[in-house]
Amino acid sequence: MNITFLLNGEAVEVDTHPTQTLLDWLRETQSLTGTKEGCNEGDCGACSVMITDQNGARTLNACILFIPQLHGKSVRTVEGLAAPDGTLHPVQQSMIDNHGSQCGFCTPGFVVSMATGHLNGRTDHDDVLAGNLCRCTGYAPIVRAAQASEGMPVPDHMRDPSRPDLGDKTDIPAPETSDAVAAWYMANPDGTLIAGATDVGLWVTKDFRNKTGKMGEVAFLNRCTDLQQIDDLGDALRIGAAVTMTDVLAAVRTLHPSYANMIRRYGSEQVRNAATIGGNIANGSPIGDNPPALIALDATLHLRHGDTRRDVPIADFFIEYGKQDRKAGEFVEAVTIPKSAPALRCYKLSKRFDQDISAVCGCFNVTVENDTITSACIAFGGMAGTPKRAALAEAALLGRPWSSNTIETAAIALADDFQPMSDMRASAAYRMEAAQGQLRRYFDDLNGKQTNVLEVRA
Ligand SMILES: Cc1cc2nc3c(=O)[nH]c(=O)nc-3n(C[C@H](O)[C@H](O)[C@H](O)COP(=O)(O)OP(=O)(O)OC[C@H]3O[C@@H](n4cnc5c(N)ncnc54)[C@H](O)[C@@H]3O)c2cc1C
Ligand code: FES
Ligand code: FES
Repeated sequence: MNITFLLNGEAVEVDTHPTQTLLDWLRETQSLTGTKEGCNEGDCGACSVMITDQNGARTLNACILFIPQLHGKSVRTVEGLAAPDGTLHPVQQSMIDNHGSQCGFCTPGFVVSMATGHLNGRTDHDDVLAGNLCRCTGYAPIVRAAQASEGMPVPDHMRDPSRPDLGDKTDIPAPETSDAVAAWYMANPDGTLIAGATDVGLWVTKDFRNKTGKMGEVAFLNRCTDLQQIDDLGDALRIGAAVTMTDVLAAVRTLHPSYANMIRRYGSEQVRNAATIGGNIANGSPIGDNPPALIALDATLHLRHGDTRRDVPIADFFIEYGKQDRKAGEFVEAVTIPKSAPALRCYKLSKRFDQDISAVCGCFNVTVENDTITSACIAFGGMAGTPKRAALAEAALLGRPWSSNTIETAAIALADDFQPMSDMRASAAYRMEAAQGQLRRYFDDLNGKQTNVLEVRA
């Protein structure tokens, strides 16, 4: 399989297998060992690289990025940051000047994230660096270094072409239209679609499923432009399945600020730049962050099986743990959400503010007219084997006055809606108390009480 891309400004042609990770290829075949392997699962950012394509320059984790995803793009590693004459990149010099480099393991990843942020004129350094873990608590000088390099000129060599002219000789399994995906999946119903690979990457690096034959044939969705579109339908947005979480965040920032605040805490910059909304829905995880928000928004899921399309309310898609309403060869084409939902609130509770999976994710959307609750949609992640509506709590709200008494009745009903599990993230009792607390918080929020200081910084 031939894949061509620019690596630190030079065209390379790679003949490899579909699940070859960029990290292993860089280190093992190119001796570019500045890109480090820390966790090998997208958590630490030690393997950060800068990828430039039609969406601009973004940081991604090379450990869960497959070589075929790079076809026709530009890749810049830490070795490609200094100018060809050896002059350090401004962020590298700034790291030295501000004593920001503390260990050789994390520093290359930090510097790549900083250089990408610098290229894009970013000043929200905490967000830019949230996916780069420093275990020695040395963030302050690193952030000072990023601040000090703000506004310094971007070196010319950093402006990689978004579509390098590399010819188009490739034989990668990467359909370029939804029609082609449908045809491929009908022919390979046991195969694996790969969108952002933030789940599938771990199947390879941790489960070695590629070696045990469990993945079957693979097809990449990243060249499929019609699945990457967001269409404005007037009163709704139709979001293609292969739209990244970075682009979903941008699309909902002003429409649904609470949902956007939650997405901002979804993984990290590197994860959001890869992960797609379709992958997050299709994997059916009980702790995925989009599904409860989409259920509370009463989103419609668009599924496609060959030439047959069908729409399902997203709440009905999640049947039980590991089982969704999707047959072999059927895929998620898009999801449609309303543009207006002023009462939508999304609360993600996790042990860490950034870069952590939810213990409980509660999303609420209640309409109150003349002080009476006329509609209620409440959905939780982390409380059951699937993302799930709180039907009994909703019933306890409907037709009742918008008051703290009503909320307390609904909080009691939540205990009948869910029997959460205990795991390393939270005990069952904690989950239940947290869910009830989120309902009370929603009441306070809608009544204008300031309930969360941290999230306001978004
Ligand atoms: C470090 C890290 C942090 C994370 N943090 C979060 C977090 O905070 N919140 C959260 O919710 N998730 C988180 N995740 C999980 C992951 O990012 C999401 O589940 C992600 O959205 C999956 O999307 P993807 O495009 O990467 O999917 P992939 O890994 O490419 O695919 C996932 C699954 O979906 C299938 N698939 C993909 N697209 C389609 C489609 N269009 N139709 C049908 N099937 C499809 C694939 O075949 C596969 O089974 C994290 C993951 C990592 C590695
Ligand atoms: S090695 Fe940790 S994110 Fe890639
Ligand atoms: S810079 Fe590596 S642990 Fe802090």
